[in-house]
Amino acid sequence: MDIIIRDDYEQMSKYAAEIIAGHIKAKPDCVLGLATGSTPINTYKELIKIHKQGLDFSRVRTFNLDEYLGVGPEPGKPYDLDQSYSRFMHEELLNHINIKKENIHIPDGRTKDPKKFCMWYEEEIKKSGGIDLQLLGIGGDGHWGFNEPGSSLGSRTAVVALTQQTLDDNYNAFYKNANIERSDMPHFAITMGIGTILDAKNILMIANGKKKADIIAKCLEGPITSQITSSAIQLHSGGITVVLDEDAASKLTNANRYRHIEKTKLQYGL
Ligand code: F6R
Repeated sequence: MDIIIRDDYEQMSKYAAEIIAGHIKAKPDCVLGLATGSTPINTYKELIKIHKQGLDFSRVRTFNLDEYLGVGPEPGKPYDLDQSYSRFMHEELLNHINIKKENIHIPDGRTKDPKKFCMWYEEEIKKSGGIDLQLLGIGGDGHWGFNEPGSSLGSRTAVVALTQQTLDDNYNAFYKNANIERSDMPHFAITMGIGTILDAKNILMIANGKKKADIIAKCLEGPITSQITSSAIQLHSGGITVVLDEDAASKLTNANRYRHIEKTKLQYGL
């Protein structure tokens, strides 16, 4: 596991975007797993910049981690009331790059048959050859996607109930600004499972800010537990890169060791 510590959010985002761009350059039809939330916003801005300098997304395929159940674009509904992750992804990244519509996969929050949809999503990921690089943030309670404390570490794409902490975090980050009542927020979501995420060939997790420091230390250096579903990162057998800013790294016991490893690898061109 490579744990990379950068000075601030901007540097963290640049580093993460370069990793994603590197995957696309090495494999132009690569399959990316994408995340929403406040953390990847600048990573996506950086990727758009790299695209403007020539990075080609025309063969890239994407699968998003999750979507609220009961939300999504709806004819006749004011656009501003659409708080779907689909809208977020289009505004923050997808509308600004040359990705093909048919190559974009985001769980359908308006599906009539969520169970069937979840099975279909898993199949589509398999059919694509599997996710080459999965981008992840981390929730305040350590979740990946909407895999809240207590979710099985082998779980697959499913409908899940959101915890109070996630509802509060999301309300403050997104819904408050849109003047949407707390009671009107969706309480369920479709999410890739932890098992689905661990099937990705490579994982790129990013985190910034003091409020992520405790959970990052628990996730990376604590025991593997279904109470912190992202601690499953310690079980992943492929390439893992974790990019943190100084604040998010501030509670890591072994931060100096990670800095040393990065420096040594650079020195020896590894
Ligand atoms: C989003 C997602 C979530 C977020 C997490 C962190 O698709 O799957 O797990 O990554 O809630 O959110 P932010 O980045 O807003 O702190």
